[in-house]
Amino acid sequence: MTTGFFIAIEGGEGAGKSTQANLLAKHLQSLGFEVVTTREPGGTHTAEKIRDILLDPKIDDMPATTEALLFAAARADHAANLIRPALERGAVVICDRYIESSVAYQGAARGLGVDYIRQLSAWATHDLMPDFTIYIDVPVTDSAERMEGTDRMEIQSRDFHTLVHQAFRDIASNSNSAHVQIDGTRDREDIAEQISTAVTEAMKSR
Ligand code: TYD
Repeated sequence: MTTGFFIAIEGGEGAGKSTQANLLAKHLQSLGFEVVTTREPGGTHTAEKIRDILLDPKIDDMPATTEALLFAAARADHAANLIRPALERGAVVICDRYIESSVAYQGAARGLGVDYIRQLSAWATHDLMPDFTIYIDVPVTDSAERMEGTDRMEIQSRDFHTLVHQAFRDIASNSNSAHVQIDGTRDREDIAEQISTAVTEAMKSR
């Protein structure tokens, strides 16, 4: 049983998720909440080590199944050792990427199957699901423009990132009300405002 509130922020590369996570954290802190901001893959000692493997651009022969299992393994550690304990003491957890990233990247773009990957993540986390998900939608950019642009996932082809983008949109449009889609091309303050309004509503109506 958890008493906190778990928010996931999802989107493709360069969607400004971490900036928005920090702005939302400041907003919620100013309202008196304990806020924990974290990210995936990573967030705990073990998960950060798995992240190093997952994002190492020198590894060019990782099977998609290994990749999916490593993301799930990182998530299992993160959920057990950081997210669940924080929620149990009543904190708001804001996570930069969570299960929907696995569904979009490994399930859809790698072709492993969205239902299969969803089940894997659910199993790995003992069904720890976000209370609210924010999807920030931005157009797919060329890899050259794609942020700092050199990790193993960022250097995947434009076609791969187009599949990721389409998958995120499909998930967002098929989701229930515990999900909001935000136009990530608008200005930073505008996006932050929309996110805090949506989160306040979601927290009230829980
Ligand atoms: P990161 O630098 O954190 O990405 P960003 O700053 O764009 O959010 O790198 C994480 C990469 O891992 C990113 O390309 C998305 C990918 N990823 C997956 O493929 N599956 C997952 O389950 C997660 C959490 C991330």
